[in-house]
Amino acid sequence: MAKSRVDLLEEITPDVERLFNRHMEAPRLWYPHEQINWGEGENFGEHPWSPNDYPLGEGVRSSIYVNLLTEDNLPYYTDSILEHSPRGHPIREWTYQWTMEENRHAMVMRDWVHISRCINPTLLEDGRRVQMQKGEVPHPATFAELIAYVSFQERATQIAHRNTGAKLPKDDRIGRNVLALIAGDETKHYLFYRDLTLAAFAIDPSAMMIAVSKQVSTFAMPGTGIPSFTRHAVRIAKEGIYGLGQYLGDVLTPVLSLWDIEHLKGLTKEAELARIDLVNVKAKIAESVERMAQKAAMMKSPLGVR
Ligand SMILES: [Fe+2]
Ligand SMILES: [Fe+2]
Repeated sequence: MAKSRVDLLEEITPDVERLFNRHMEAPRLWYPHEQINWGEGENFGEHPWSPNDYPLGEGVRSSIYVNLLTEDNLPYYTDSILEHSPRGHPIREWTYQWTMEENRHAMVMRDWVHISRCINPTLLEDGRRVQMQKGEVPHPATFAELIAYVSFQERATQIAHRNTGAKLPKDDRIGRNVLALIAGDETKHYLFYRDLTLAAFAIDPSAMMIAVSKQVSTFAMPGTGIPSFTRHAVRIAKEGIYGLGQYLGDVLTPVLSLWDIEHLKGLTKEAELARIDLVNVKAKIAESVERMAQKAAMMKSPLGVR
């Protein structure tokens, strides 16, 4: 029998404290207001936004738009995480620290976006209103599922911010720096949740295998409440910023291998079945990525379909 949520939370307390302390030993103290060149800003009333203000590929614009709106949606992510962070447990203090750090991401990104004019501010604000009125975020059912989900999600956002920054023009040093700072925070969040999940595997491998398997088969990038999310997601993938290939190569593969999914011993029958499902889902994703790569190669080839 898998242990109950309360047992795992109780037994993982020392690991939460250890990883929280590790996080705090290397503080990342940076000030959103210091990252921006305010003198470059212009009023939108006098100078309405135009795409020529900051020429950029549509996939990169989509990525900035989706990533910023996802950061805006923080209150609902915090709500979802607090559901599994009981008062008096150190995970609660961690969640407050996490929220404090996450909160500066939308701040600094929006300042940069408005000063640099890299995306349409009206479209952005319309998107923010629509998305935040929905409060649509995943609500993992248990603490085990939550830490598995957040591990993947933090890694995915780290990759998305990092790859977006790499697509900005070389001379936008401010934009590159802003996205690198955010990606740096996401890296530390990822390490916390990844290693907490590793500790949870040591406590209750069967419950964790079932939780991870479920999260992998249902994982989607955050942002489903964003208007035209699918259209943006396709553009972002086409640009090579974040798609199925990155999910497989940069998220699933390193995270699952660190948790040593394939060699875990002592699983219950149900957990063994979950492991088989997990391996199958990963193999199916790998097949899709391979098919997409072949298709892309054919499109590029002079003999291929155009
Ligand atoms: Fe963030
Ligand atoms: Fe994060």
